Amino acid sequence: MNDIEIMISEEDIQKRIGELATTINARYMSDELYVICILKGAVMFTIDLIKRLNMPVTLDFMIVSSYGSDTESSGEVKVIKDLDNSIKDKKVLIVEDIVDTGLTLNNIVNMLNKRAPKSIEICTLLNKKARRTNEIDVQYIGFEISNEFVVGYGLDLAQKYRNLPYIGQIKNVIN
Ligand code: IMP
Ligand code: MG
Repeated sequence: MNDIEIMISEEDIQKRIGELATTINARYMSDELYVICILKGAVMFTIDLIKRLNMPVTLDFMIVSSYGSDTESSGEVKVIKDLDNSIKDKKVLIVEDIVDTGLTLNNIVNMLNKRAPKSIEICTLLNKKARRTNEIDVQYIGFEISNEFVVGYGLDLAQKYRNLPYIGQIKNVIN
């Protein structure tokens, strides 16, 4: 196992999620919300976030894959698991772990917009703004981070480290 340096502590993550939930609660009040968790990375964040939402929430999951190596994504996105229900006329909140180039969310939003939802907003735990190549509106951002590869709290390197309760950086990468 490589050494991990903590970048965002468990306490700081939970505190920030509380703030995001307060903002989202104020925005939607008692309106129903169709929450889409983008698996697998956003699973911990989504669960901790929706526990703090006050409106009626429908939870659904999507799995998309972007082709490429473990640390770099290519230009294509493929839907592995689609939503279980229609989002027509629904207020949708997409929950993501990290927005990097924006390619993944750009593809997802374009696809979901064709299904005529009432609205779509995006909530991401982490944002790597410097890496953006695809324009995308992100309404709720947990933390802005610089261009470094991070793991933990759902985020992986080759499917490992998702279980860490904090966001960290891998030191002395051993392959
Ligand atoms: P995008 O399509 O380039 O915005 O990439 C978004 C996806 O790439 C995220 O949902 C993650 O799965 C993955 N990703 C991007 N940066 C990182 C990182 O630093 N750690 C782990 N996964 C990352
Ligand atoms: Mg992801």
